[in-house]
Amino acid sequence: MSDAQEVLDRCAELARITAGAPRIERVYLSPEHAAANSLVATWMEKVGLRTWQDAAGNLCGRREGHVDGLPALMIGSHLDTVPDAGAYDGTTGVLMAIVVAERLRNHDLPFALEVIAFSDEEGTRFGAALMGSRAVAGRWQEDWWQQRDRDGITLRRAFADFGLNPELVHEAARTPAELVGYLEAHIEQGPYLESEDRSLGFVTAIAGARRFRLNIIGEAGHAGGTPYPRRRDALVSACEAITMIERVARASGEDGCIATVGRIEVQPGAVNVIPGQAHFTLDLRAATDAERDAMWHSMRAEIERLCGRRGTRLTVVETHSAPACECALWLREAIATGIRKTGDDDPRGLWSKAGHDAMAMGAICDVAMLFVRCRDGVSHHPSEDIREIDVARGIDAYKEAVLEVARTYEARVRARNCGS
Ligand code: HGY
Ligand code: MN
Ligand code: MN
Repeated sequence: MSDAQEVLDRCAELARITAGAPRIERVYLSPEHAAANSLVATWMEKVGLRTWQDAAGNLCGRREGHVDGLPALMIGSHLDTVPDAGAYDGTTGVLMAIVVAERLRNHDLPFALEVIAFSDEEGTRFGAALMGSRAVAGRWQEDWWQQRDRDGITLRRAFADFGLNPELVHEAARTPAELVGYLEAHIEQGPYLESEDRSLGFVTAIAGARRFRLNIIGEAGHAGGTPYPRRRDALVSACEAITMIERVARASGEDGCIATVGRIEVQPGAVNVIPGQAHFTLDLRAATDAERDAMWHSMRAEIERLCGRRGTRLTVVETHSAPACECALWLREAIATGIRKTGDDDPRGLWSKAGHDAMAMGAICDVAMLFVRCRDGVSHHPSEDIREIDVARGIDAYKEAVLEVARTYEARVRARNCGS
């Protein structure tokens, strides 16, 4: 069996570790998270990695460089999913990294090689996203502990139930001195590689995202007895807000802002009661944080105006914020070199509109990403699909990129030693 086919088979095996088959759902600090970590740990150990689960529930594997204790080049992605997910978002990157570690098992590298499987990239269970990678980046936020999942379980309680000590989460943090950089392979989650019939691409920058919970408060009332002029209908206000959000984001253009309302809840939710409350989520991204933030301020002002016209009012809770992240030129170039060695002599650079753990790791080290074509650009959906040939080329490019990083890094160390 080819390495690429093994990656696909293992993605399918991981897809069977889910909270609700046949749908795929594996969320932070769940029994499925624990089971996936255990399974992937066996695959890491098979290729000679020493494995451990860190204080934030990330699964780590390490192989020393030509001497013990060297800074590590970290490669990997995440194992958690959105609800009703596809089988390849995150998992492909973790499994490709394990194959690269196997292929370089006998290479004398100037750094340690670490493979990491981050535990909470999506933020599905608690709202804040990138909690696993932000723990590694030393960016854990104390106010996260109060977050609750849909069953009212706090993050703090879920930590303890999973067997982790909330007081020790900071032990997952790495220092810049411990890391050479971070490379992540990931399915593109967009249509551009396929539209140009390319297997691979490198990422230039990753969009910064902010996520909110918008609460529109009106007044419940009788569906028959309340004349329109007296209504303070929260759901109609929300509908007007949501169509405005989409209209304004679309108008900002192909490379402008992207806004998505993913969930809405209405209270009291009876067929014959005017909705008194409507709560909906907003995911807002742009190439730069400034564009994104300007868009948010204008959207919020417009929603407050339309609520005023309808006698309703708006409150907002920000649930997640991650800055846009530039990929480091030297690592981007290593990825492009790897892609060239697969026969694509004009590698395509792409701006990632999807968020990734690399944006959290960018806080403490240089990062870069390798994109692998996915069918129709579909992701966050059960029909997510990738081809063996693209994964095979991706593994080849990934391995060559790590070797290119080694060459560049060694030259930098030599130059530094000569200079000292
Ligand atoms: O939402 C995202 O962009 C990522 O897939 N978590
Ligand atoms: Mn995702
Ligand atoms: Mn992902």
